[in-house]
Amino acid sequence: MKLLVTGASGYIGGSVTQKLRDAGHEVLGLVRSEEKARQVEDRGIEPIIGTLDDSAILADAARRADGVINTASSDHRGAVEALVTALERSGKPLIHTSGSSIVCDDALGDSENPAIYNEDTYLEPVPMRQARVAIDRYVREAGISKGIRAVVICPTMVYGTGRGLQSDSDQVPKLTLRSKERGAGLYIGKGINRWSNVYIDDLVDLYLLVLEKAPAASFFFAENGEASLREVAESVSRFLGYGGRMETWDAKDAIAQYGDWARFALASNSRVRAGNARRLGWSPHGPTLAEAVERQL
Ligand SMILES: NC(=O)c1ccc[n+]([C@@H]2O[C@H](COP(=O)([O-])OP(=O)(O)OC[C@H]3O[C@@H](n4cnc5c(N)ncnc54)[C@H](OP(=O)(O)O)[C@@H]3O)[C@@H](O)[C@H]2O)c1
Repeated sequence: MKLLVTGASGYIGGSVTQKLRDAGHEVLGLVRSEEKARQVEDRGIEPIIGTLDDSAILADAARRADGVINTASSDHRGAVEALVTALERSGKPLIHTSGSSIVCDDALGDSENPAIYNEDTYLEPVPMRQARVAIDRYVREAGISKGIRAVVICPTMVYGTGRGLQSDSDQVPKLTLRSKERGAGLYIGKGINRWSNVYIDDLVDLYLLVLEKAPAASFFFAENGEASLREVAESVSRFLGYGGRMETWDAKDAIAQYGDWARFALASNSRVRAGNARRLGWSPHGPTLAEAVERQL
């Protein structure tokens, strides 16, 4: 197949792209600069230079492709609308990437939320995530009413070394950076808040399985485990050679530095179970987050 991948130079998109190439697919990769274009071209990807705001470029590339995988942003409604419009009545697959902070709370690290979500659990997102949830619903609705095999993959905290140009994920690398400054693994508040997590290679396998088999309008959480942020901090500490030494990171300081991201990606609970993915035949087998962080896998 020929697939258009947005975010082809990023962590998830680059890793997905690499696997698609390994499986013999052609890839058109959306990139934002000439430099990135050259870099992805070296990896066997046909670069499409543009941004998520360039609806005409997106639409043209989507029509040239047999399917689209959108990993550049979970929050760019305009790009998703442009892709849906371009693919209407084509029957082609459209995989949109969401993120499991759609189920997060506002715990500031101080409580473990017993709520564990599956794909059918009623969801009332925090205000900051309402727009993301609306995009997910729009994509699934396109799978019902617009003749597109449109589906959503919703990864949790992704960990492990990526296979594309960008090898680092989001939460663990940022925590590692700040932990280096303090000489201790950091967590916010008491650090007893919990996040589900997923190993990058397993997540990539899910994209390929969903591309092949997922019915229109389906939704897939992606997780293969769960840890408290204190446990994550302990692994970071061990990796950095601090022997498991940990410190709390004041929520106000973290939010001053990283804004709402710190609040909802580090200090919240986001606990899900990937039932739909497993029913589709997904069988994650990668290292746990602790193993991957401590051994840099
Ligand atoms: N990593 C995680 O743990 C995780 C978990 C759940 C959900 N997600 C979501 O999944 C998405 C991708 O995450 P990631 O970790 O792969 O991020 P990433 O490494 O930052 O990659 C994002 C990619 O998208 C491109 N991009 C961003 N904005 C763009 C725009 N306006 N126009 C064109 N290209 C654009 C970037 O291009 P440049 O190379 O030019 O910057 C980069 O290639 C994000 O929405 C994120 O919230 C991530």
